[in-house]
Amino acid sequence: MERLPGFRDFYPEPLPHNDVWSADARQYIFDKWRTIAKRYGFREYDGPPLEPLELFTTKSGEEIVGQLFDFVDKGKRHIALRPEMTPTLARMVAAHERNYKKPIKWFAIPQLFRYEKQQKGRLREHFQFNADLIGETDPAADAELIALLIDTLRAFGLTAEDFVIRLSSRNAWQEFFESGKRKAESGNNAEDAYAFFQIIDKLERTAPEESEKKLAALGFTLAGVNAFIESGKPTAELQSILDNLAARGLKDFVKIDYQVIRGLAYYTGVVFEAFDRKGEFRAIAGGGRYNNLVKLISGGKVDLPALGFGMGDVVLAELLKARGLLPKFDSQMDVFVLIEDETLRPISLKLVHDLRAAGFAVEYPITPAKSDKQFKRAQELKVAYTARLENDAYVRIRNFKTRDEIVTGLAGAANHLG
Ligand code: HAM
Repeated sequence: MERLPGFRDFYPEPLPHNDVWSADARQYIFDKWRTIAKRYGFREYDGPPLEPLELFTTKSGEEIVGQLFDFVDKGKRHIALRPEMTPTLARMVAAHERNYKKPIKWFAIPQLFRYEKQQKGRLREHFQFNADLIGETDPAADAELIALLIDTLRAFGLTAEDFVIRLSSRNAWQEFFESGKRKAESGNNAEDAYAFFQIIDKLERTAPEESEKKLAALGFTLAGVNAFIESGKPTAELQSILDNLAARGLKDFVKIDYQVIRGLAYYTGVVFEAFDRKGEFRAIAGGGRYNNLVKLISGGKVDLPALGFGMGDVVLAELLKARGLLPKFDSQMDVFVLIEDETLRPISLKLVHDLRAAGFAVEYPITPAKSDKQFKRAQELKVAYTARLENDAYVRIRNFKTRDEIVTGLAGAANHLG
């Protein structure tokens, strides 16, 4: 039986071949995400992987709705596997925001599902680090979040030479759109604005003639759009974010780039994406302000400004691998208890159990085995120590690296390890 296209098997290292993913590397990535989020004062939350379909059709935008894994369940509810976390977060916050001091700073590591065409950096399932800040309109909040994004990538050993945050603003584009609209007098509306944003979002990946044609239908020219992008003049809001980041010493990690506008429909202001500098990979992360989503999802009951980002594990792992920044992982066992004399097995089991209770990772031969086999196994596991009972009272502990040995009473064995 084959697995579904676009889904992954995660194996412990060493990996059997290149077509599987490393469960160890995944854990390494999750650990770093958690560590840095906590350092910035973000608390972890989670929600259900299945949600009512309407949660996503309300305001995520056509692109993501077209990629939903959706079906009717046995209770005749139309439901979908979550393609992103933000609508769930908006629902959760709206339900219980009074319990939490503002700004709310939360993170999650959900597995997400999108029926996309499988390609480099795009699968049908991925894990996404989400960090969101709710209840603050000041651009200082945007800067705080972008600083978290930068420091998260730095935690993996990536530098300003490896990646850059391309910072933009839908407000700036909205102004451009409005002024163009007046000139063209083409009777544009919110739908046209969204269609316009979609064209900008795909500019880099679309043939110029095609973009030109689509823009013309809305009363714009590609030359006009390109001139605006090239001007790259920060709005007052973007400038204050740049200043805030510069004060932290993070200036080299950001640049204004109006080419970024983001595909999702709910963004309202500042938007940004993280890219590798060489331009070899798809976006590592993306996010921005969505000041209307909580209100929309709560049916107008709760109105809170918000912003956040999502960072996928797929592109990140590809980038880390390409830059040689993914460590190799081994079993991380501390001790191998050798059982060469089967009459000592019961007391050896007690030692295994006591060492595990003391917090050590301990392995041993689960059935009788030849000495050399046991030794080989200890070597493969790259343990720090072996322990072997001399008799029913004493144990010989050997440091596998230095080869130093000591013999100690059973009760004190743990004191001689690590
Ligand atoms: P997004 O741009 O759709 O934003 O996804 C964020 C990141 O998730 C992307 O930059 C990419 O690294 C990864 N990603 C997305 N789709 C796939 C896929 N099919 N395969 C592999 N990786 C993928 C959002 O989802 C927003 N909800 C983020 C956000 C949070 N905005 C505010 N708060």
